[in-house]
Order: sequence, then structure tokens, then C-alpha cells
Amino acid sequence: AEQEASLKAQIKARLEAEDAVLVAHYYTSPAVQALAEETGGCVSDSLEMARFGHDHPARTLVVAGVKFMGETAKILTPDKRVLMPTLEATCSLDLGCPIEEFSAFCDQHPDRKVVVYANTSAAVKARADWVVTSSIALDVAEHLAEQGEKIIWAPDQHLGDYVRRQTGADIIMWDGACIVHEEFKARGIADLKAVYPDAAVLVHPESPAAVLELADRVGSTTQIIRASKELPNERFIVATDQGIFYKLQQESPDKEFIIAPTAGEGATCRSCANCPWMAMNELESLAGVFDRDDNEIFVDPELGERAMVPLKRMLDFAA
Ligand code: 13P
Ligand code: SF4
Repeated sequence: AEQEASLKAQIKARLEAEDAVLVAHYYTSPAVQALAEETGGCVSDSLEMARFGHDHPARTLVVAGVKFMGETAKILTPDKRVLMPTLEATCSLDLGCPIEEFSAFCDQHPDRKVVVYANTSAAVKARADWVVTSSIALDVAEHLAEQGEKIIWAPDQHLGDYVRRQTGADIIMWDGACIVHEEFKARGIADLKAVYPDAAVLVHPESPAAVLELADRVGSTTQIIRASKELPNERFIVATDQGIFYKLQQESPDKEFIIAPTAGEGATCRSCANCPWMAMNELESLAGVFDRDDNEIFVDPELGERAMVPLKRMLDFAA
């Protein structure tokens, strides 16, 4: 705890000296989330991270999350310096959607609007008509369906499948998945529900369809947190990354939150559902964030300008 306090003090001083603000995702460690809160930064979902970085006056954004979040920040504010604890923090959805193949796929369906998840590279965003996060995926798909538009959805097939079921939109899909959410098991959750019948089940839409079927609420990280406060239940089974428990518990100290199992046996699981890339954001790596020369986000300006169009469209639509 002493070392943690000293690291935090060190980072705080550097943030101030560098005119920098910390923008953290709900999946980062409790220490990182607390630091963002204590320093006037933000802890939020990927949509709000984008908005916060865009609106904040600081010259430097320190993004504690995964690479696409840093890239989104850079695209939206090309004049700011965007630093991350490590550029190695990627995402299986981003990795699973390389631009050459994706672009060729889009070329085969020129009559469709291209809707990509924020969890993609700058190049994939630049190829898209719309960027969405899980917070507004349904709203955007509904909007497009109302206009009679057909959709290419990438890269998360579970989210795409969910959106298709909910909105009836005409969607063809890329077959990416999140390695964290894909592991949740319907059988394990059902077993846990049998033990705790009073528990409400909260699920992120990157989870498989069978898991979504068991949900009392499906939503983005922010929507999961909101549901945990709105619902009267005292106990929740939560199918998303463990990092979110910091905020869930902070908002509702008297409620009990149980991680959804990633094995079918119904036993609770203490180390599962932890994104390995989100876990790269530790206080130690944050303390060195200003002193390295390999951790600044750069996006080709011409590419960035193209990617900014669907990103701005998302922010305006969500406003
Ligand atoms: P949210 O937009 O819900 O925060 O999700 C981001 C993410 O990476 C989910 O795995
Ligand atoms: Fe990507 Fe999944 Fe990690 Fe989110 S939890 S950053 S979707 S791999």
C-alpha cells in the first residue's frame, strides 16, 4: 500500500507538470480507476472516453485502456499528445479485422453501409460509414434500418447477432469475437442462478447468444453499471470483465456482485474474465508513461481525417 501511494503521488505530480489528464476504462485495475478519479480524469466506457478526451482542455491525454481507445483519442484530437502505458495493449477484435481483408469484404457489398465497432484500427474506421460502441450499437442499427439501409457489421459477431435480433436490421457480419466475453458459459450461469435465484444477470453484448438469453439486462459497461443501481436486486451475476467490479461495488457497496463463470461447472471463478491487454495498464507502467519514447500514439493525418468522419458521426448521434 505504501508503494502504491508513492507511485500514485509520482504520477499525479507528472500529470500536473505535463498538462495531462488520465482517461481510463472500467476494465483497468482498481488502482488505476481510483487514480483517474482522484486526478480529475475520467473512468468510463469507450464512448465516454472518446467524448471526454475530445472535450477536455489538457494538452496531453494519457489513455489507460487498449490501443484502439488511444487511437480514437488521437483521431478526434490530432493536435493533442496521446500517450499509453504500452502500445502492446491490443484487442482480439482489432487483431481479427485486418484492413486489407476487411476492405475487400466491403468492396464485395457496395450497397451496404459499413458499421464498425470502436474496437478496430484507425484504418478500419477510415473505411467505415459509422463507428459505434456497445452503448449506441442498437440505436444506430435501428436508425439505419428505418432508413431502409442494409448493413455490414464488424468485427464482433456476437454484438452483431444481438443487434440483428433486436432491431431486425439486414446485417451481414465479420466473424470477430472478444476473447474475454466469448468465454462466458450459459450452463455455468444457469447453475449459479440455481444457487442464487434472487440474482439478476447483467451481460455485455460481446457475449455469446446463449448467455445473452439468460440476461435480465444486456448492455455496455455503462449500461451494466446503471442497471446494477436501478434494479432492486441485492445480488448480481455479471458477465463482463472483472475490472468493472470496482465501480459496481463503489456505486452499490451493500450489493453483492458475482462474476459469471467461464467454465460450465457453476463454480465461481476468481481469475477469469480479465482482459490480458487491459491488465497491461498498471500503476508501474503509468509512472513511466512520460519517460519513454515508444508509447505515443501516432495516426497518419490523412487516414485520421477519414476516420474522424464516422467517429464524429457517432459522437453527434449519441449527443
Ligand atoms: P464498452 O464500450 O462497453 O466500455 O466496451 C468496451 C470493450 O472493450 C468491451 O470489451
Ligand atoms: Fe477487446 Fe475483449 Fe479486451 Fe474489450 S475485453 S479490449 S473487447 S479483448
